[in-house]
Amino acid sequence: MPTAQPSTAVPAATSAQAWLARGMAAHQQGQADEARQAYQALLAIAPDHPDGLHLLGMLEAQFGDGDQAVTLLSRAVAQNPLEPMFHNNLGNALLQLGREDEADACYQRSLALDPKRYDALNNRALLMARRQRLREAEAAFLQLLEIAPGFVEARQNLALVCMRLGRPHEALAHCMRGLVTQPGARGLRELLARAYMHCEMPDKALEVYRAWLEHDPDDPVPRHHIGALEGAVPERASDAYIETTFDSFAGSFDQTLGRLDYRAPAVLGAAVRARLGEPQPRWRVLDAGCGTGLCGEHLAPHAARLVGVDLSRGMLERAAKRPHYQALHQRELVEFLRAHPRSFDLIASADTLIYFGALQDFAQAAHAALDGAGWLVFTVEAHDEAEGAPEYRLHAHGRYSHRRDYLQRVLLEAGFDEVQTEAEWWRHEMREQVQGWLVAARRGRLPAADTATTAAAG
Ligand SMILES: C[S@@+](CC[C@H](N)C(=O)[O-])C[C@H]1O[C@@H](n2cnc3c(N)ncnc32)[C@H](O)[C@@H]1O
Repeated sequence: MPTAQPSTAVPAATSAQAWLARGMAAHQQGQADEARQAYQALLAIAPDHPDGLHLLGMLEAQFGDGDQAVTLLSRAVAQNPLEPMFHNNLGNALLQLGREDEADACYQRSLALDPKRYDALNNRALLMARRQRLREAEAAFLQLLEIAPGFVEARQNLALVCMRLGRPHEALAHCMRGLVTQPGARGLRELLARAYMHCEMPDKALEVYRAWLEHDPDDPVPRHHIGALEGAVPERASDAYIETTFDSFAGSFDQTLGRLDYRAPAVLGAAVRARLGEPQPRWRVLDAGCGTGLCGEHLAPHAARLVGVDLSRGMLERAAKRPHYQALHQRELVEFLRAHPRSFDLIASADTLIYFGALQDFAQAAHAALDGAGWLVFTVEAHDEAEGAPEYRLHAHGRYSHRRDYLQRVLLEAGFDEVQTEAEWWRHEMREQVQGWLVAARRGRLPAADTATTAAAG
């Protein structure tokens, strides 16, 4: 058996430290590829390096590879079972995979090693909220805030639980306390404005957004909401608003939407199947606003080639982890459609045109992107069609809703031959169903099932 030679061990350790430092610096600057390479180089030298395993595991968790994260973090824990942080972070990675009981066991192990570990206490309370045990979660956050009153993240989580419990006035109070500790906290400002809206105090919400914009004039989020509240409705949400909102939402999107009984991808999938028939992998399909790829499993069975397009890099990184897409593009979707005339047989879009008010440009670009014949199937939110209601509305929550007759008119004017609309609901919000329209617009007629398809696009 060869023994370790001090002469080689010293340079190896030195360069392991150097790779660790390089990885951490890149990681902190958000340079994921550089950080990954550095951690991998470190682990090539020292395969059981606990910090290397831990940090690479954290990086993988951050970028959506939960399985890999769990493997690496479990190895870090095995190397250093007395480090409470490792148990806590393994818990978070397990939670990404929906392994709630195991995650809870990790948080408990972390707390057994250090009962005052605030992040593990916070994560346990979050897990309770995730399991709909809202009152228990509330008690746990309150207990935590008693020992750590300045823990802003826990204060924000408690405010969110109050909102979910239908007590927006209490949420307001917690947001304000949190903002005393951390005046510029983005999440708290956003929640505070939402809580004011739920308390039917739009003027106060507007004040929050204005103060936020004054503090950070480049932030597209308050700008978007000020437009909604002041009635200066843009034709669609700005690219900057979409990117900022969804890049920061990407990590928790699937989990949050799951909790809200989100059903747009499944309803969209059923609508596609009703029109294209039994799945055959023969069509050129675009998922417009693919997000993390939740529609992928419903569209892929029909697709010779499935292409996704989205503005948010964070969302696309998640979609790339799914097996369904042959290509993913980071681009504004109308621009993408215009750049791909006569390229698709089916364009599908779930919960994305809720960020568009005017739909003329989209409808025309989609019509031109279908290859002579095909279907455009999408979901939007609905508002009542009472006389005088605008064709589309931008709501204080930041999303648009549409009138059914507007959808039909715009699509027919763009050249579609037939437009079908069905009333549906998409998810729960504050215990209410969010109502919408499922829209299917036909251009020409697709060839019958025994005709071969043409080359793939995108
Ligand atoms: C609510 S998510 C829905 C994602 C996915 N379709 C689903 O059902 O899970 C909306 C997505 O649309 C994207 N999006 C919104 N407006 C867009 C635009 N103009 N161009 C490209 N992507 C857009 C967002 O980045 C986000 O990923």
